[in-house]
Amino acid sequence: MDKRLRRETGQTLGPTLRVLDHAVETIDQTRLPFEEIWLILRGADACRQAIVSMQVRGAPLIGAVGAFGMAFALREDGSDAALAHAAAQFAAARPTAVNLAWAVARVRDRVSPLAPLARAEAAWLEAVAIADEDVRINRAIGLHGAGLLREVWRRARRGISQAPLRLLTHCNAGSLATVAHGTALAPIYRLHDEGVPLEVWVDETRPRNQGASLTAWELARHGVPCTVVVDNAGGELMRQGLVDAVIVGCDRVTRNGDVANKIGTYLKALAAHDNGVPFYVACPTPTLDLALESGAAIPIEQRSAREVTHATGVDAEGRIVEVRLVPEGVAAANPAFDVTPARLVTALVTELGTCPATEAGILELMAVSRQSRGVLA
Ligand code: MRU
Repeated sequence: MDKRLRRETGQTLGPTLRVLDHAVETIDQTRLPFEEIWLILRGADACRQAIVSMQVRGAPLIGAVGAFGMAFALREDGSDAALAHAAAQFAAARPTAVNLAWAVARVRDRVSPLAPLARAEAAWLEAVAIADEDVRINRAIGLHGAGLLREVWRRARRGISQAPLRLLTHCNAGSLATVAHGTALAPIYRLHDEGVPLEVWVDETRPRNQGASLTAWELARHGVPCTVVVDNAGGELMRQGLVDAVIVGCDRVTRNGDVANKIGTYLKALAAHDNGVPFYVACPTPTLDLALESGAAIPIEQRSAREVTHATGVDAEGRIVEVRLVPEGVAAANPAFDVTPARLVTALVTELGTCPATEAGILELMAVSRQSRGVLA
């Protein structure tokens, strides 16, 4: 039997994604940290809607859920027209993170040579393979990133054996943003599990508060000491020498090493550069977009002004409520991502190893790994 068939139904692919008979199940991230509700997605529309509403979010996770969405769409209609329509719909659901377009194209290319009736099952297996790969990729990022951060810790603690490694992260590039382990948080979990003392500064990450709501939630669950700070605090923390390294995830990295990530990342990179703090980007290779020369060509998702003008929390009775923060009638803009120029990035941490954020660095890493296949096997 095809090894992948065993993973087809009733399986946990990772802590954030389970596969059921004819459905996938994932955590509703819009309800965290107030309540843990699992969503059952049973069709292409449900998957697409969950991605658009950010109930499902994070570049690798939306790639995996988009791939399952393609399989659902093909169960409804396996024709060429339906395949093209589903691919276009999913790829457009969130434009900045290239993982979604990458996963959708991978499923489309896998099934398009097949007869229409054979496409849905092949698409499902490809989606399972994408999700499984994400778990392996993130585990490897954890390994390589931990090596890098251990060296930072060795230099920073100056002989004091239990001085903690102090890291700062932005948005949520943890387990919740992926099928398992996370990208930027994978090395943090690994070091913590190995007994390295850590303290993580967590940027709140307005407007949707992925840091305060999601990163803090999952780090605390794992027992990693963390402190939430407002987005504007990072520069001052670095100036005071309270940050040994910054590590963030990414949504798209172009050929020259420019990095698109959650809005606010660029400002942290500038502050890190000014203060001599290393700035690392955890980058799974599906997040590389080698077709784009530089970050100038990355589409930046513009989201609803309501995410800026309003915020959600719990009231004294424990009810989840939304409140308005901005005077009524005042305009708000909401670019959801920014581009950090490659020159501000100390290194990319991929599943293949680490490399400079340059075209030569990226291409050399990929060439070396092609020569020594089996890294992820
Ligand atoms: O808009 P989101 O929450 O889906 O954005 C995702 C991010 O920017 C993540 O923090 C990230 O770094 C990429 S996902 C590992």
